[in-house]
This record gives sequence, C-alpha cells and structure tokens, in this order.
Amino acid sequence: MGEDAPAGHVVFVGMMGSGKTTVGRRVARHLDLEFIDTDETIVSVTGREIAEWFANRGEVAFRDAEEQVLAELLDATTPSVVATGGGAVLRAATRTRLCAPRHRVIWLRASPTFLNSRISQKAERRARPLLADDPAVALERLDEQRRDFYAEVADVIIDIEPVMTGSDKPRKAVAQLVVDTLDLLGEGSRR
Ligand code: S3P
Repeated sequence: MGEDAPAGHVVFVGMMGSGKTTVGRRVARHLDLEFIDTDETIVSVTGREIAEWFANRGEVAFRDAEEQVLAELLDATTPSVVATGGGAVLRAATRTRLCAPRHRVIWLRASPTFLNSRISQKAERRARPLLADDPAVALERLDEQRRDFYAEVADVIIDIEPVMTGSDKPRKAVAQLVVDTLDLLGEGSRR
C-alpha cells in the first residue's frame, strides 16, 4: 500500500439482530482498533434518534445520512472496525465503497427465523422501526431484498447460527471465529 493510500477497515454487514455491534466491539478490542457503529454515529452527529429519523424525516433521508456517515468513516486514514446498519448495503455507492480492496468486509449471516428469535425483546426493536409491525414478515422481506447485496460486498461470510446455538457465550464465540478467520486470511487476503 502506498504511503498516501487510506487504511483499510474491518466492516461488519448483515441483517438486524446478527450481532454486528456486539461482535464488532469485541473484534475491535482484540485487534486493538477503534470501534465505530454507524447508527450510533448518526445519532450523535445529528442529535436525532433512529426512530425519529424514520418517523419525521423518512427512510430516504435516513439512508442519505447513513451513506454519508459511512463514506466518511471508510475514508478515514486510521483503521477501525465499523458496524453498519442492516440497510446500508441498499445504496449502490456504498456497495462500491465497501468493495474497495483495502477493506475487509464480514457478513454475519443468519436466517430470518433465527434473527427474529433474537430480537423479540422490545428494547432491541426501539432503534429498528422497520420491525415495528410484524418482525417475522419484515425480516423475511428484508432478507430477500438484501441477501445478494451482502454477498456482493462480503470478503468473509460467517454463518452465526451454528456458532451461537452451540455456545453459552454466543457473541463471544462469533467474535472469536471472526478473529481467527481474519488471522488465517492475513494481510495478503485484502482484495
Ligand atoms: C436498519 C437497521 C438498523 C438501523 C435502522 C434500519 C435496516 O441497524 O440502521 O433501524 O434497515 O436494516 P442494525 O442493523 O444495527 O439494527
């Protein structure tokens, strides 16, 4: 990589409830990198909660903000671990940015049924207006709409279901698998 080339980031993509934030935070700690969650960044930069974005400004405005925040994070010269919102990949420009060879993009993949069982608590739904009505149906629809986009940008696919069901510390187990996979791939794996 040339001296002026921006650093690559480790970026988590995947559906709501796949554990991008908790797993990402753990992986960042392990790699000794800063952890950044795009939803948290949007809320802190704009002073507006995610639910408010959807209710008052609409989804398109939220996607604009999300695209812009993520573009800035990916451009940052200090490497970090970034957890994206589940719908970030909807924007073609974001997918193009994620496909830059310097980033390592990890898709935490799971079936909508499994995800629904994990985000049934009310608190978990507060920042997820898209799941407000019938989460099971919404997750099926969103998964159908986004699956190919996640596949398009992912360097690594981690199937979280078997790892999580077989562990009493499910998110820790997924984070460990991510770290081991990144170790195995090494620097040479960067696209
Ligand atoms: C969304 C996912 C949420 C949040 C917003 C929209 C989506 O983030 O950005 O509610 O469209 O899938 P998480 O994936 O972190 O829950």
